[in-house]
Amino acid sequence: MLNRLLLIYALLLAGMASPSAAAGGDSYTYANYQQVTVSHLHLDLAMDFQQKTLSGFADLQLNWLVQDATEVYLDTRDLTIERVYGKQQDGSWQTVPFKLAARDAVLGSKLTISPAFQPQMLRIHYSSAPEASGLQWLNPEQTAGKTTPFMFSQNQAIHGRSWIPVQDTPAVRMSYSARIQTTDQVLVVMSAPNDPATARDGDYQFYMPQPIPAYLIAIAAGDLQFKAMSEQTGVYAEPYILEASANEFASTQAMIDATEQLYGEYRWGRYDLLILPPSFPFGGMENPVLSFITPTVVAGDGSLVNLIAHELAHSWSGNLVTNATWRDLWLNEGFTSYVENRIMEQVFGSDRAVMEQALSVQALKDELQVLSANDSILHIDLQGRDPDDAFSGVPYTKGQLFLMDLEQQFGRDKFDRFLRQYFADYAFKSIDTATFVNYLDKNLLQQYPGVVSLEQAKAWIYQPGLPAGTPEPQSDAFTQVQQHASNWLAGNSELSSLPTASWTVHEWLYFINNLPLSISPEQMAALDNSFGLTTSTNSEIAHAWYLLALKTGYQQVLPQLEQYLIGIGRRKLIIPLYKQLASTPEGLAFARAVYQQARPGYHPLAQGSVDELLRN
Ligand code: BES
Ligand code: ZN
Repeated sequence: MLNRLLLIYALLLAGMASPSAAAGGDSYTYANYQQVTVSHLHLDLAMDFQQKTLSGFADLQLNWLVQDATEVYLDTRDLTIERVYGKQQDGSWQTVPFKLAARDAVLGSKLTISPAFQPQMLRIHYSSAPEASGLQWLNPEQTAGKTTPFMFSQNQAIHGRSWIPVQDTPAVRMSYSARIQTTDQVLVVMSAPNDPATARDGDYQFYMPQPIPAYLIAIAAGDLQFKAMSEQTGVYAEPYILEASANEFASTQAMIDATEQLYGEYRWGRYDLLILPPSFPFGGMENPVLSFITPTVVAGDGSLVNLIAHELAHSWSGNLVTNATWRDLWLNEGFTSYVENRIMEQVFGSDRAVMEQALSVQALKDELQVLSANDSILHIDLQGRDPDDAFSGVPYTKGQLFLMDLEQQFGRDKFDRFLRQYFADYAFKSIDTATFVNYLDKNLLQQYPGVVSLEQAKAWIYQPGLPAGTPEPQSDAFTQVQQHASNWLAGNSELSSLPTASWTVHEWLYFINNLPLSISPEQMAALDNSFGLTTSTNSEIAHAWYLLALKTGYQQVLPQLEQYLIGIGRRKLIIPLYKQLASTPEGLAFARAVYQQARPGYHPLAQGSVDELLRN
């Protein structure tokens, strides 16, 4: 009995020493954020393209929550920590002892700072490593212009710690400021208000007044030019793609206006886009005030601008109301996918919005065939895995379907009012799934009893798979595409009778994605000869076509596929192709040869994923 008590006491103490491990906390941070939080971060860094480092110091303003705590635990990965100072009440600085723990493969190295008093501020002198997981450094030859280097960060989910010693958890929000000194060849931009007219002198200052989590702190530098799209919006890009991007994304202002009408004021001032090099590993990243965007959506016809709607939507779902841990990612991505589609409907009409729903749902259903039951749960158990490895369409599209279901059950009026109030009530807060469930129950389910039960809502969130009665988007346009395709495949019509002249990119995607794997190489060749699919300049169409070609053994795509895989580093577009290639011995050999050329140009995150797929 006594032993039992002692054990319980020891467990309690252990729990207190690392409160982040407590139930409901973020298990992906070492930070003791129940004891002390960072309220403001100031970075003073030199950006060195030769060394591929950021070095200087970070000032962390502290908010002590517990009376006699004096230690501060921070997240780092591959940082060199040189010195740490603590600022005393009288304003004087004092050297403070610190310890950097061994590196954990997922979490990085815990930095323990032990001032023995409660400093109001810490100053940490440090530098990042050239292989920092959250940064990519491109030589001039790796850029379109070939004359100027480029660098950018990608912090989500837990890569901020590879260039900032910080409480790297979405549960903690801070304002930030920065001074970045570098060569005057480049313009530096950050996820903070950027002044398009700033002097390009290699010395740049930033101030972000709104509190944001570390995963939304972002930086990029390169031969960037600015072009305004409206008073509030503009594009930063390398010159080769500046005009094209401004044209492609001209609907951005209309999207902001539509979202404000639906969900309330845009709270961040300007909204600019930064077009990254093709190695950017994502489609987009919702860095506040300055979304980071892949150039692979600059298609020439605006067909892929739902990506902009998506990143913009995060200004409400994600950046304003933030998931408190990475288990709650669906609160960011599910809500954002839903809002994205509402924006698309508002700006481009419901035919297009429904086509986009249908494509997403079909992709989700395909994915659910291969995902484990655990990974099909919205409130996912990450099981200690790297959050990057547990990434799937579930938080996005299952989350979106859940909200579509609520919308359909309660009606738009009520559901829109609920969502608008949700964004207002939790503005600049980080919340977990349980908090949302309580809020939903109180403000929607119980307000209108008998429509959706708490149990039904919980099934969506805590059970695997898709519940019975899941919304099934029906696109008339796709039904017609399907009929034409079936007729042609059955030999009842000529290729020339397909009404492709009027097909949108979405209809093409639906067509390609739904061709049977039994299609013959001759039929593939006929399609290719008529429609030039192998040389499509639309990155999504090319992707869908290459994937089908690999699955059906249509070899003619290989030279173009090689160029595609070398030229693009967006994971969503390249990983499925590498995966498919790796499923046959010849494919694997081809993939390895291509990857040898492609790898140096890829981002560390993409390198990690492809290394894994192609290793022996
Ligand atoms: N925030 C995500 C990207 C992300 C998610 C990075 C999780 C790291 C961890 C971004 O908003 C996103 O979802 N991008 C998508 C856009 C698409 C769904 C329109 C992408 O990159 O493909
Ligand atoms: Zn997103």
